[in-house]
Amino acid sequence: MIIAIDGPSGAGKSTVAKAVAKKLGFSCLDTGAMYRAVAWRALQDGADLADEEACGRIAREREVSFGHVAGDPVPRRVFIDGDEVTDAIRTAEIDRAVSPVSAHPAVRKALTAQQQRIGRSGDYVVEGRDIGTVVFPEAAVKVFLTASDEERAHRRVRQNADRGVGSLDFEEVLADIRRRDAHDSARAAAPLKPAADAVHVDSTGHYIEEVIDMICAMAREAGAR
Ligand code: DC
Repeated sequence: MIIAIDGPSGAGKSTVAKAVAKKLGFSCLDTGAMYRAVAWRALQDGADLADEEACGRIAREREVSFGHVAGDPVPRRVFIDGDEVTDAIRTAEIDRAVSPVSAHPAVRKALTAQQQRIGRSGDYVVEGRDIGTVVFPEAAVKVFLTASDEERAHRRVRQNADRGVGSLDFEEVLADIRRRDAHDSARAAAPLKPAADAVHVDSTGHYIEEVIDMICAMAREAGAR
């Protein structure tokens, strides 16, 4: 079974996806990490981020994979080929680079194929922007998770503080979130938009546990144990 969780950055997708996966015994796939890893490789290679062919080649030829931290069933370590990029893909530089890279149809095509291969290997909670619309339109459960801009910026600052990477400046993070939302929603290829059959959940002011329980209930209704 696939549970698709789409929505803008900072809506709480990662927290919710990991918790739902743990509760249901599913695996978890963070597709944003895959776009970030390709952007990281492009920067390392000195590639022009506007060059679709160069970025597409990286997405086709370099495999993004995930690994576990001891004792945690949800994968948290990210690799591209042999290089571990778990922390390196969370910097402000990658936040900026990932929008143009993820807008290239050639990049999306290659990563969509990788995501479909991974997701078809078992029960997955998959989080991203186009999971319910493009990657797994047949997903058993589709959620479009949102929250106010300010709440998302606060959460992202807290997440950056926990991780020890990324900006802690609220105004900077808020501006970045708005810029990325506009970019992700306006791009021609697989823009951020809810699937027609997605359940909309606004997590502003909601305890994240309520959202997690709601999605688990939807999954059980759809046949998950
Ligand atoms: O979820 P995130 O913030 O880590 O995602 C990083 C970027 O990747 C985000 O700007 C949009 C893009 N992305 C995408 O285009 N499609 C996805 N399925 C996931 C992320």
